[in-house]
Amino acid sequence: MEYSFAGKRIVVGITGSIAAFKVAGWVSTLAKEEARVAVVMTESAQKFIAPLTFSALTGEPAYTSMFNQAQSSPMSHIDLAQDASAFLIAPASARTIARLAHGIADDLLSTTVLATRAPVVVCPAMNPKMYLHQATQDNLERLRQFGYHIVDPDSGLMACKDEGQGRLVEWESVQEVLLRCLLKNDLQGERILITAGPTREALDPARFISNRSSGKMGYALARAAYRRGADVVLVSGPTALQCPFGVKRIDVVTAREMYDAVLAEFNNATMLIKSAAVSDFRPAVSFEHKVKKENAGETIEVVRNPDILYEIGRLKRDPEQIVVGFAAESGNLIEEGKIKLQRKNLDLIAVNDITSADSGFEVETNKMILIDAEGSKQLPWASKTDTAHMIFDYICQNLRKTGN
Ligand code: PMT
Repeated sequence: MEYSFAGKRIVVGITGSIAAFKVAGWVSTLAKEEARVAVVMTESAQKFIAPLTFSALTGEPAYTSMFNQAQSSPMSHIDLAQDASAFLIAPASARTIARLAHGIADDLLSTTVLATRAPVVVCPAMNPKMYLHQATQDNLERLRQFGYHIVDPDSGLMACKDEGQGRLVEWESVQEVLLRCLLKNDLQGERILITAGPTREALDPARFISNRSSGKMGYALARAAYRRGADVVLVSGPTALQCPFGVKRIDVVTAREMYDAVLAEFNNATMLIKSAAVSDFRPAVSFEHKVKKENAGETIEVVRNPDILYEIGRLKRDPEQIVVGFAAESGNLIEEGKIKLQRKNLDLIAVNDITSADSGFEVETNKMILIDAEGSKQLPWASKTDTAHMIFDYICQNLRKTGN
């Protein structure tokens, strides 16, 4: 798939830190995802982990020296630099960060990084006092100015028993930054507001009206948009999912909370994608204390919630702003989609058939029809991640006209 590491040349620079062993797992993951991985190790890194580990994982020698004829030509740093799709330096020690910040090319890694024009991702890992020292912070700032991507370390208990910020981040965050560097950034400059998940409308502190939305489709859209270069705000109803790296999440519970959040954020957005399943109704009364079944009536009176998307469609003035609705339908998909497209003044609607077991709510896959003013397009059955990318492909090609 175009949106993965497959076929990409990732040069991983490893420096002297106890966290070096963690990166063996990352290299293994990249190799399994069919990236072509080359590992460059500093002298200190080899004190923590053997080059053989990385050779075994990548299938090519770990590069350790500028002048090792057995490994490659003496020019191998230039070959590595030119061949790289991206550089990942992890763990990045204070010393290597200082070298890179000042262009000191005195070992294979620092020389290779200086010679590359590929994106560089740096993951610092060191003692918290070293990390917070002004010298390190200034050096990191310099690297940011070069356009390097710094993935800040996590906080916690260190191997040296100090506590604070300095632990090597987890792979899940690093892979997002790497993918954002590697993929086509056709959503760069877009500020995309996405809604996901269900809303909950309380009957009392124990019970609520809701629906089966897991948030998976909306979170896949948020992750895909970030990877393609957008700034992403995710307004999310209650879900069990982790906020995707790089995405700003605003948590809401009720439809009215979602309404307030979407209206507050919409003016600043270039695109709204409303994949949330909003409860159309809420109980007319929400009780402060749990209703005893002996005291409960047999019917629940409900009132209508605001239709957030309808309201946005009514208020929208800027023709550059793109508004995308979703629809969960159980029949007449195209007709129902067209009605919603027009009634809610949308640029595009993505319709899913919720009667199919492998599409719609909760499952990992989806099969959607996209409908706009020009016509409709059936997307193939695919994972929600691939579906999200196909929706953005369609938007770039047909609505923004920036795609190929
Ligand atoms: O979360 P998952 O488990 O991954 O499932 C994904 C999904 C099935 C929820 C998703 O793909 C989807 O179809 N979302 C829209 C579901 C829905 O609410 O459809 P609708 O036909 O009721 O609403 C149409 C549109 O109006 C939607 O964009 C909805 O967000 C919006 N709406 C609806 C009601 C309301 N009060 N306010 C709204 O803004």
